[in-house]
Amino acid sequence: MTTNVIDNEPETVLPERITRFPFPFSRDSYRYSTNVEPALKTVETEAGAWGGRLLDIDEHYLHELKERNEVLKRDPTRVRALPHMRPAVWDAISTLLPIMAEEHPDTMFFHRDGNACRWMNTLQNLELEFTIGDDSSLPVGPLRFLGSQVQDDIALLDHREDALWLDAGLVTFAADWSFGFDVGMKFLEVHGPVPRVHEEHIITRAQQFLMRLQPGEKYRRTNWTMTIDRRLDTSTETYPDWAQDRATVAADPAMPDRLHLRVEVQHLIRLPHSGAVLFLVRTHLLSLSDIARIPAWRERLGRVLAELPEDMAEYKGISRYRHAASAWLLAH
Ligand code: HEM
Repeated sequence: MTTNVIDNEPETVLPERITRFPFPFSRDSYRYSTNVEPALKTVETEAGAWGGRLLDIDEHYLHELKERNEVLKRDPTRVRALPHMRPAVWDAISTLLPIMAEEHPDTMFFHRDGNACRWMNTLQNLELEFTIGDDSSLPVGPLRFLGSQVQDDIALLDHREDALWLDAGLVTFAADWSFGFDVGMKFLEVHGPVPRVHEEHIITRAQQFLMRLQPGEKYRRTNWTMTIDRRLDTSTETYPDWAQDRATVAADPAMPDRLHLRVEVQHLIRLPHSGAVLFLVRTHLLSLSDIARIPAWRERLGRVLAELPEDMAEYKGISRYRHAASAWLLAH
């Protein structure tokens, strides 16, 4: 709990899901851009702040990791590492676990002596000794293990032939795309379906930027869409389970509680040993009802949804309900 209160409301204490929410809009309209900034800078919002940590752990940690595990059990195509990416996966483990321990010293501990590591995660009652580079020293495969410790989805891009290639990852919470389909593609091909970004050279610029990242450098960006209910797995694979809700939610009296702004905080890190680019996607969901508790957010999201060009709304899959959502927010 925090002590944030909303001005002009009598001592309303806001829950952390609101105070820590990465509200992504700084103006009343939204367009794509190469929106990258250095990681770890705290961003103040009208409700609180976010962004002070690379690996954000919240009240949903255990629940989301359980959900990830269930997705992986049902569908093993959500995790894949092409053979040449093994060093990059170990590089990601030896980069992220120490950061996680440093950022969460009350619950996590990491010690490394040569390649011998000790990892403790008291949130999971886990205590483990393993050897960097030795897959058999972990209870599950190395990428699967990393995905059982961080809430983020994980992608690893190989840098070769003057391009970036999506050659490994563990992605259980995709926002309307398929990791299994995209794995092995070039960065530019992965972004093939996105409207506008190619004519506006956003993706080529992003790739140039990512290819120039120096070992250890960490950047981030946000991306957003909307999701009905707290559904994290909105991948192409489960499309039949969630897509029909998009046609009916606008008429549902429960729309303000069911419709969530979905914000991805994406980190981009050049790994120090393998040279791969690590791409972390941490998904946050906040309902319209919660957003409406912050007057500035209510108004801003209402205006962004009303103004968004149709091709972008169509691509994001929100075109059938965005005007209803906007009207509710602006009238509320
Ligand atoms: C600076 C870096 C990046 C920029 C500027 C960027 C930009 C974008 C934009 C504008 C979209 C459309 C999002 C929407 O409307 O909801 C998108 C989608 C996507 N991005 Fe990126 N992106 C970046 C990095 C990455 C990386 C490193 C990956 C690695 C896998 C990635 C994978 C994707 C995927 C899979 C989609 C969905 C594409 C689809 O519909 O199939 N992006 N990106």
